[in-house]
Amino acid sequence: MTNLPADEAVHVRAPGKINLYLRVGGVESDGYHSLVSVYQAVSLYEDVYAWPDDEISVSFGDSPIDTSGLATDDTNLAVRAAKLLATEAGVSAGARLEIIKRVPIAGGMGGGSADAAATLIACDALWGTGLPRERLLALGSELGADVPFALMGGAAVGTGRGDALSAVLGKEQFHWVLALAEGGLSTPKVYDTLDELRRARAVPKQPTRAHFSADPVVLHALRSGNAAQLAEGLVNDLQPAAMSLAPELAKVIELGERSGALMGIVSGSGPTIAFLAADSEAALELQVMLSAAQITAMHVHGPVSGARVVQG
Ligand code: C5P
Repeated sequence: MTNLPADEAVHVRAPGKINLYLRVGGVESDGYHSLVSVYQAVSLYEDVYAWPDDEISVSFGDSPIDTSGLATDDTNLAVRAAKLLATEAGVSAGARLEIIKRVPIAGGMGGGSADAAATLIACDALWGTGLPRERLLALGSELGADVPFALMGGAAVGTGRGDALSAVLGKEQFHWVLALAEGGLSTPKVYDTLDELRRARAVPKQPTRAHFSADPVVLHALRSGNAAQLAEGLVNDLQPAAMSLAPELAKVIELGERSGALMGIVSGSGPTIAFLAADSEAALELQVMLSAAQITAMHVHGPVSGARVVQG
């Protein structure tokens, strides 16, 4: 149980992600698509604070993005994460959670998954459950396909629903400029749209099993830190689906690539666009040019660590 004074919070920070490589297969019996993904955690973070309390509750703190439309009831993924952990660990204590959101909502960067991952780590520390890491990862995958990666961070290949992870080692940093959209896209809708486009033969068929592994070009680029090579390997099967739901994204990609990006790609199910830059200076220039075109642009880098307690 907690040793914390009632006015002290556990503070956990969890990153958003970009899918560098995302090939989507068919729908499996659990309703999810099988996929292979290469994830990279980037320096855009969710902060979760957890205070001791009798009940489990969540609120949103002063955040740079508008959180007014987000649920704070039992459907909130952070609340679900805390309740799942409490049940699993046989804890009867509660937690008052506060989330500071920076990762765009329904933006394809795993913001909700980061909240869930941060909550698991925060409540684990608050309640002293001491669950082994594998157990936390398994709880994460019950909460959502991207939650285990938000726990793990760095860069990883994900298979299955995206939650069976193996780390990709490499210390080199990459610089990205994110172009944030005004609205969000529903992830299930984007997957459904991909299925429709495939049925209508408007996009290539799903990859065969033989092609269902991470591109060695991407893995090599991650290890060597070669941004130009990574740009060549960036792929997202969900991109045509996201762009058919949000056609204005094509212009954003065009502008970024004309303004010096090595490559622009829809992040996950979108609509955030991630532009890979050659280096930090190129990213800064690109950010300025996108901002001049009234696009909300942020310079981030990756890989960064997964969900972890922030000391002090
Ligand atoms: O796991 P998560 O809640 O993030 O997934 C949201 C939705 O995205 C799922 O309900 C499903 O419709 C779709 N999805 C999918 N295949 C995946 C991951 C997500 O079809 N591998």
